[in-house]
This record gives sequence, C-alpha cells and structure tokens, in this order.
Amino acid sequence: MGNISDLRKRGCFVTNLTGFLLVILVICLLAVVAVIVYFTTLDIKCSSSNESNGKVANKTLHKAPSVDRNFRLPLNLYPTVYEVEIQPYIYGDNSEDFFFSGHVGIEVECRSSTNEIILHSKMLHITENTIEIRLSGRHNDTINSTLEYDTDNGFIILKLSRLMVAGNRYIVEMGFDGHFSEDLDGLYLSSYVRDNSTVYLATTQFEAIHARKAFPCFDEPAIKAKFIITLVRKNHMISLSNTRIVYRENRTDNWVADHYEETPLMSTYILAFIVCDFQYTSDVTKNNVLFRSWARNEVVDQTPYSLKVGIKILAYFEDYLNISFPLAKSDMIAVPDFQAGAMENWGLITYRETNMLFHPLESSEFRKEVVANIVSHELAHMWFGNLVTPEWWGDIWLNEGFASYFEHLGVDHVHPDWNMLEEFTSPEMHRAMTMDSLVSKHPVYAHVSENRQIQSMFDDISYIKGASIIRMMRFFLGEHTFKRGLQRYLKNHLYDVATHDDLWYSLGNQSKIDRNPKFIQNIKHIMDTWVMQMNYPTVFIKRDRDKLILTQSRYLLDTEAVDPGKYESPFGYKWVIPATFTTSLNLRFNQTAKDIIWIDIYTSDVTISSAMSGSSANDWYIGNVMQYGYFRVNYPEENWIRLIQQLKTDHTLIPPINRAQIINDVWNLAKSGDVNTYIALQTLDYLPKEDNVIPLRAAWTEINYLREAVIETDLNSTFSKVMRKMLSKQFNKYGIDNTGAGHTETMTRRGIVRMACDYESEECIQNCTDIFKKYMENPNENPIDVNLRGTVLCTAVRNGGFKEYEFLKRKYKASDIPSEKYTLRYALLCSKDIKILRWYLKNILHTEDIPKEDAVKAVLHISKTEIGRLPALEFIRGNWNFIFKRLVKSAHEQHNLLSGIYKVLRTAAEIEKFAYLIKDSPKMMKLNHKPGLELSNIRNKWSKRNYHNIKKWLLEKNL
Ligand code: BES
Ligand code: ZN
Repeated sequence: MGNISDLRKRGCFVTNLTGFLLVILVICLLAVVAVIVYFTTLDIKCSSSNESNGKVANKTLHKAPSVDRNFRLPLNLYPTVYEVEIQPYIYGDNSEDFFFSGHVGIEVECRSSTNEIILHSKMLHITENTIEIRLSGRHNDTINSTLEYDTDNGFIILKLSRLMVAGNRYIVEMGFDGHFSEDLDGLYLSSYVRDNSTVYLATTQFEAIHARKAFPCFDEPAIKAKFIITLVRKNHMISLSNTRIVYRENRTDNWVADHYEETPLMSTYILAFIVCDFQYTSDVTKNNVLFRSWARNEVVDQTPYSLKVGIKILAYFEDYLNISFPLAKSDMIAVPDFQAGAMENWGLITYRETNMLFHPLESSEFRKEVVANIVSHELAHMWFGNLVTPEWWGDIWLNEGFASYFEHLGVDHVHPDWNMLEEFTSPEMHRAMTMDSLVSKHPVYAHVSENRQIQSMFDDISYIKGASIIRMMRFFLGEHTFKRGLQRYLKNHLYDVATHDDLWYSLGNQSKIDRNPKFIQNIKHIMDTWVMQMNYPTVFIKRDRDKLILTQSRYLLDTEAVDPGKYESPFGYKWVIPATFTTSLNLRFNQTAKDIIWIDIYTSDVTISSAMSGSSANDWYIGNVMQYGYFRVNYPEENWIRLIQQLKTDHTLIPPINRAQIINDVWNLAKSGDVNTYIALQTLDYLPKEDNVIPLRAAWTEINYLREAVIETDLNSTFSKVMRKMLSKQFNKYGIDNTGAGHTETMTRRGIVRMACDYESEECIQNCTDIFKKYMENPNENPIDVNLRGTVLCTAVRNGGFKEYEFLKRKYKASDIPSEKYTLRYALLCSKDIKILRWYLKNILHTEDIPKEDAVKAVLHISKTEIGRLPALEFIRGNWNFIFKRLVKSAHEQHNLLSGIYKVLRTAAEIEKFAYLIKDSPKMMKLNHKPGLELSNIRNKWSKRNYHNIKKWLLEKNL
C-alpha cells in the first residue's frame, strides 16, 4: 500500500482460485483493452504533466551542488514507519527561552542504492552525535555519515560512508531541537491571557510544507507512511495528536510521555501535535467514533454547536461516500492564534476560535453558518485529502474543490432550511468567475515546480472554480453516477494518492456501469477543458425566427489584456459545455442531464430548431438554468430588455439563482464591453421588490463596484442620493426588529440593514442610533438583535462620538466571547475620528485590542472606510518593510493584504505607487499580485468609459 512507484496500478488482481483464473484473465484483458481504447479514442492529447515522472528523473540529480539541486526529494529512499518524540519546553515566564527538542527514528525502504540520505528539515538543529543509520533489525551494523544542510531547499543531507543497498530496509535516527516558529506554522507557540497572566500552548500547522520545521521528514504529500507519535508534557497539561493515546509514561520532574497509537498510512502535512491545558465536550457518532470539541476552559461552553454539527456531518459523509471514517476518534480544537481559517489534520482538526466556537445567545446566525460550513469543509477533507491525497500540489483542487463543494452538502444535511446549495453561486461562484476572467491566474490544475508556487495554489481557482466544476459534473452525470463514481474513485485510491485523470477514470467507469455511454468516452474530453486551461466561456444565445443559436467564446473581463503566456491552452480556449435553456413560453428550471445541449470544442455553434416556435414578441429565454454550468450567457439586447422587464413585473417567475445569474452576467458583460452598461444598470431597478439574499448579494456587489467607480467623479453625490433612496425603501420594509425570523430572513435583513446604513439611509442610521442609546442607558441588557449587532454598533460608532466609542471599548475589554469580541473590534474601527484610527494604525501590533492574527485584517478594515482609506494606505506604504517583517507572517496573509489593497486603490497614480512597491519586495514576489492590479485597472477604465451611461441612469432615478 502507498507505493508511489505503483501509482498507476489499476485494478486487476488474479486470485489463487484457479477455477476462476480464466474468467479473471478475460476480464483483465477486457479492462486493459477498455483502458487503451479510453485513452486512444481521445482526440485531445493528455497534457496532464505527470510530475511523478519528473521525480524519477531527479534521482540522477542528487549529487548536484545545492543551487542546482531539484526541490523534490529523490525517491531512492522511501519511509514506511516513523517514530517521533517531541517535547515542547513552554513553562516559565520568559517565552523567549522556550524551545522544543525531539527524536525521530524512520524505517526506510531503499529502492535504489545510494550513498546519501536527503530529507526535509527546516530551521532545526540536528544533534550530530545522535545520528545513527543501520540496517533494520541489526543494531551493530551501522553506517557512518556526515551531515550537511541545504537551507535553500530545506533539506538535510547525510553523506554515507558506504552504500545503502536497494532492497534493504534501514533505520535512520536522529535527535534535534528547534525554536518555535514565529510564523504560526510548523510547531509554534500560541497563548492566551488568564487572570492577567499569559498561558502558553504548543501547536502545529503543517500544510503545505511546514512539517519539516517540526521534525526531519520526507515532507511531500505522496510520500505516505505510518507515524508513532510520543508527546512529552508536564503533568498539569494534556497533549493531543491524530490518534488515541495508548499509554502514558511518567518521567522524572513531573514530565509525562503520551504514547499515541500508530496512524494509518498518511501524508506529513496532516499530522498535528498539541500540548495545552484545554477542556472538551464530547459525544459519539452513530458509527461509534468518539468526537470531542476542545477549547480553553473559559470558552469550552461554546463548543457544543460544532460538536453537534460535526457528529452529524461525519456520519453523513460516511454514508454518502460509503467509506467509514478510519480513526477511532475525531478531535476538533479552537486555537487562540491561528493563521488559516481551519486545518484538516486527520483526527485533530484545528480552527481559529471564531470559526469553531458558537455562543447560542451571543453569536449570530451568520456565525452559525460560518462554523457549520468550516466544520463541514474540514470533515470533507477526511476523505478528499486525507484518505485520498493529490499526488502533488498542482492538483490541490482535488482537496479544496471537493471540500468546498461537499461543505455545502454537509451543511444542507444538517440545516435543510438554509438553502446552502443555492447559496453556492452567489457569492462564491460569482467571486471565482471574476478572478477567473483575468489572464493572470492559473488553470485549475497547474504545474507546480517550485516551493514558493505552492501557497499560491490555495486560491479561489482551486477552491471555488474547483467546487463549481464539481457541481457542474454532478449536474451532467446525474446524482447516482456522481455519487457512485466518487465512491469508486475514493475506493481505488484509499491511503494512496490520485490525480485528476484518476478522477475522470473512475467517473467514466461508473458512467459505463450506469449505461451512460456518452461519458465513458467523454468525461476526460469534457473535463480537461475546464481543468487544463484558464478562464471560461460566454455562450451567446441568439434567436433566428423559431430557432436558437448557441455560440461559445472565451470570456475575459479585459478584452485587451495581454496574456503573459505562462499557461498555454491545449484547447485554443474552447470548452465542452453542458448548455441548457428555458423560455418564457415553456418555463422549465428543473432540468436534468438529458436536457443538456452539448457545445463541443470543434463546433463553432449549435442550432436548436423550433425552440421558440409559437412565441410572441415579448417572450424571452434564459440560458444555463440554475447556473449549473460554469460559464456566462449573453443575449442580443432585446432579450436582455425583456428579462429586465420580467424582473420588474414579476421576478418570482425566475428562480433566485437565475435572478442572481442575470445580474452577475449582465454586469460582468458590461464591464468587458460585451453589453451596454445602461442595460446592466437597469437590473438594479427591481431591487426594492427583491427579498432573496442570493440575487441581493449579486446586486450589492455591483452597487459597491459602482460606488468605487463614481466616488472620485462629480456623479458621486447624485449616486449617493439615488442609493440612499433605493436602499431606504428596502430598509423600511425590513427594519431592525428581527424577532421570530428564521435563518434565511435573518440573513436577508442583516444584508439589507448593512447596505442601507453603509449608504447612509437616514432611517437606518436613526434606528441604529436609537437602539444603541437604549443600550448605553442600560448596559447590562443588550437590546440589539445579535444578528444585526455588527452593523448597528458600527453605525453607532461611525455616527457617534467619543462617548459611544468608549462605551464599546469597555464592552470589548469585558467580553470573553470570541465572536462578540470580533464584532466589537470591527465596530470600533468604524470610527470617523481620525485620531482614533491613527492610534490604531500606530499601535496595531502592540495593542491587545487586536490579536496578532487579525492585524492585517484590521488595517484593511480601516482602509475600507472613507475617512480611513488614505491613512491606512499611507500606513501600509510607509511601513512596508515593517509590515512584512512583523505583521504579514504567511503567504495567506500576504494574499489577503494584496487583494485588500487593490480593492481600495482608486486612481492610476495610487495603483502605480503600490505596483512599484510590490515589485520591489522580494518576499512579495512569490505571490502573484497581477490579478489585483488587473482588476483595479479594469474598474478604472470601465468607469471612464461609462461615465455617460451611469449619469443617464442616475439622472433618471433622481427625478
Ligand atoms: N487545508 C486548508 C487550510 C490551509 C490552506 C492550510 C492552505 C495551509 C495552506 C483548509 O481545509 C481550508 O481550506 N481552510 C480554509 C477555510 C475553509 C472553510 C475555506 C481557510 O483556512 O481559509
Ligand atoms: Zn480545505
């Protein structure tokens, strides 16, 4: 199991039941023929660059000097079992003195003879006299070695006195010690305050390539092994790792060693080690998995919700995927300092506190949705990622795309009334489609050939485009084939690795069993067009008397953009598209696979005869029902006008997803110059009637876009007036009384109140300040609905003075509910008092008011306010180096910082200043800043080009 050299082994085993030998032989032959036919009938060359081939080639490189050494490990040695012991020293008052020590023993299989051992180790000090290399089972047969560090690649190299011989197993042992990482990755120190003193804990974050900072290992996802972990702690602490403790061993000086049971075969990046003093709540799933939810004592009462949803979702995924969760326990823990949102370590999922803790009275429905989604996402990884792992980071969408899609299935199972499957398109899919309309992103699968490229793969393309094309497959395969095909894919690669071709293969096989012959030939043919090239198409649907004609073309937000040529398209930017349509004559939004009109890469257009027969002048048609397809739809102007007319007269004839799609498509087609902007603007006219948050979100995105486009022009005051009027209308319908509202109504009200107050609707501001006054008069009883607190508090601070600010600040200090603290912190940053904002900017790293992990987010929050925008941008510019050394710890944060900056940059001069800075920052170079730059430029150009259209629309409204 788990042999990477056996990756391509697919399914034929001859049993020793000789009676069946012949039959099996025939089946095997047929299977082989089928595989050959499958691959040879494809007209498209299989361009999935297979990096495992690259690995084999690397073997010859291992003697090269450090600078030339390939960053991939040679595969002459393959680890089978690790024994790792780690002892964090996190006791006493001075955290500067803290460190950890450890010992690792790795059993390796020698696959080709070698005179050096190369493994990952970063920022660790190896105790040289503890290194021992010996033939497995032979204690006195040791090989001498000398140690070298290759810091560029994060390797240590043991030069051997004699050859390790292919076919033998060896034990490689060494002791090491290290300082806790300052970047919240590897093994790092987290802390919280209790009774005015700091309490420390040691915890890990290994994805993508940080296990090497905690212990020497073969730190690549495909190099799976078993791990026997021992964590050593003081007796007043506890420790946690991926599996259960098998025994505790008392050592001198109140030290206790917790010995963990051996893990299944797994990748290094999902290991986790924690030493802390936390408490838990627990229960068992219906299939008897022990489920525990851990947090520091002060907030452990906020763990039951995550526990409840986690238990249900784990069992649901077991049923759906028809594979049991392989570990005996599943822990989740809320870690005070945490870089990402959450991390799917097998059996020990780590979370940011706000993403796991839920207070039934003090946390909002929005927070509940966030917690449910993130728990669900991480649990989906137990299959997609942990059990079956992408062979390399270029296929990380097989992890993140599936987790991002399955998170919705999981939450939908627990809260069917939340419409989670609908919510996927708006905002998530729409957001991904924006990023994916640039020439500067990457295909879903990308060739990853250096370490610094790895982090940049964790973006909306892998997550959301990945999830969107999975959703599209579910539509065109049908639920049955999709589900069974995935079960087949997972079963074929249990405890092993996979590539996207393996996925197509399993889904294709299932289609064959389900007698769905079209897809046996075509699943790879279809899906490679979505995975191996950037961007997506627009399908233009025009009417020719009673016929409809569908034509595809590549959609780009900026049609003049010059493709940097980093990724070539193997298909000339044509896609195999599962198109659908419906007409007002024959409304059909519940379509299935059999209704699909396939548009292939070879045909320029598809004609559907008599699609519109019997129609009259006012009839309209819509393409891409329920927006199952990952593409845009464009029409001749008269059809857009009819669709808008329909929205105005009775929008409910069109389901919320397609209403959102109309808004999103027409606006983006206007931005790219494919549709007149004046048409796009008119989609906003029906909004006061809209109650569904899905189309509302699509519209709010565009309203904010419009604000940025006009804010520096003389249209700004008219625009503000028009928006204030429009959003007030909607606000008056909803108000701020949320009593008795369910989840979806609450989410709608929350959004409407926020938009209305942001756009300074007088009614909204008045309502918020009134209720805030009541709160100040009686501070022990908060009268503000928990779901509206973010906006109400922000509005009260923004429109209030020092008194309001101080009141909330006291509340902030007194609160120990992470989600409440979060809301209060951002409300404080809404202040219009420039002195307060400047104070924050100056003290952002040193103030206790803002946890380290949120510092960048706080600066960006300030930059989003009108008054704080320039000071925040100035602060970032003026402290660029400081920000990079002290604030921005990870690529994750670098990415957030960049996209945040580009969102608020307005003029070409502003953009230029930052582009110049970013280009000159070596650390920043590993991130792709081009998409942000491209988006800012596009918005600027669009607003200039469309000044007159916008003016026309505004003046009409302001009559
Ligand atoms: N595997 C990721 C976390 C991660 C990503 C760690 C990149 C290191 C590098 C995890 O499953 C994840 O996707 N977390 C998200 C939250 C999720 C619910 C979308 C995150 O951290 O933002
Ligand atoms: Zn994930």
